[in-house]
Amino acid sequence: MAAMHNRGPGMINPLLTTPIGELNGDEIFSHLPPTRVGDRDRDYMNEVLDAGFGNWESADMQGRLEEAFGEKFGVPYAITHNSGSGTMLSALLAAGVGPGDEVIVPTFTMPASTFVTIQCGAVPVLVDSDPRTFNMDVAEVERKITEFTKAIIPVCLMGLAVDFDPLMALARRHGITVIEDDAQCFMSLYKGRLVGTIGDAASFSFQGSKQMTSGGDGGIVIAGDEAYATGIRKACIHGYRTLTAKPGSTLIPRDERQDWSFERFDKLGYNFRMSAVQAALGLAQLERLDYLVGARRYIAGRYESVIREEKCEWLIPPHVPEDMTHSYYIYACVLDEDALGVEWREFRRTYIEKGGDGLYGSALPSHLEPLLRTMSFYGSPERAPHFDPRYKGEVKGYDPADYPNVESFRKRLCQFKTSMQTLEKVEKEVAALRATIRHYNG
Ligand SMILES: Cc1ncc(COP(=O)(O)O)c(C=O)c1O
Repeated sequence: MAAMHNRGPGMINPLLTTPIGELNGDEIFSHLPPTRVGDRDRDYMNEVLDAGFGNWESADMQGRLEEAFGEKFGVPYAITHNSGSGTMLSALLAAGVGPGDEVIVPTFTMPASTFVTIQCGAVPVLVDSDPRTFNMDVAEVERKITEFTKAIIPVCLMGLAVDFDPLMALARRHGITVIEDDAQCFMSLYKGRLVGTIGDAASFSFQGSKQMTSGGDGGIVIAGDEAYATGIRKACIHGYRTLTAKPGSTLIPRDERQDWSFERFDKLGYNFRMSAVQAALGLAQLERLDYLVGARRYIAGRYESVIREEKCEWLIPPHVPEDMTHSYYIYACVLDEDALGVEWREFRRTYIEKGGDGLYGSALPSHLEPLLRTMSFYGSPERAPHFDPRYKGEVKGYDPADYPNVESFRKRLCQFKTSMQTLEKVEKEVAALRATIRHYNG
């Protein structure tokens, strides 16, 4: 696989690099509509509605979103999808992943990366996480590479990059495709490079909780290699032979599609096409993405300053390595239950009593979900890709003992919301955190 041919993103907005404690909330939130729908969203939506829904004609919103997203990241190809899972399935299929292959994914993540691997007929090889960053442990990835490893999906969880340099070196050495899962990570930096431009392809989700949304669902893949991007496009849209990676290439030219001799399909594809309505909303959000991410960074800074001001030693803020920036899909602290003398559920209850809108514990790691415990992907476990005669590897199931790091922190994670769109709501959560700390610190 050729490396991402990116031009670089151009100027990085200071909102993305200013230390979080120094960001100006008034300035950032003045750019954000409280409902996440602004004039620009309405304008683009009206363009779509005015163009109407003829059989083929449209306002080319998908093409405009693809062009603008590629431009923002400084990469040549961006392929819109209707979710940030379809994106990864397309990227795996285009990389040739299928029965007999292994794909390395973290166990600690929303497991779409595991699901799409199984949906390709391949075997997910789950790896443990770094207990400080909660991201996939690259040393562990190295231990799990085999002759069957076809792809790695590093998930940049919560908005923080995985340690890409050693990961990419490993992948290059072994000829493995790297598909970034950046569903939760927008405009974060890794050693000065934008996350999303480092792997062979990068998948983003526009589902409603994410830093930007395209009306509640949607996604996009970016890639630098034209042949790979074309494969992704075809996997996304029924495998039509004539599709290309060019922005907006979602339709078949008229003279071809009308001719009786037209051979349509040369690849197996799904229909993960994004609608024009989704693309219109996505385009408007993309235009203010730096502010949307700036807001999440500002909110993280507010939580962090409360923890510091209150000299709270039992709530450990998220670790950000020096050469990275974080886009805080969520603000995840570790609760030191021993130091506080209070367990997680009681802490959460107090936070709500003090006016907080709740905080999330960690989701179960994939290996503890009933689906993976029972291996019942296709009815009986013997039909799992792990037992396909074409699979010659050793992974036949998942042993909780293989993931000690995840086990060490997962029940103590306190994930505070960063999705508030008004300063008033931010201050309410921040006040609740302060009151909760004071409640325990006296
Ligand atoms: C890390 C991660 N990967 C993938 C996905 C899947 O995205 P989508 O819901 O758009 O399919 C999500 C979000 O739900 C996610 O958080």
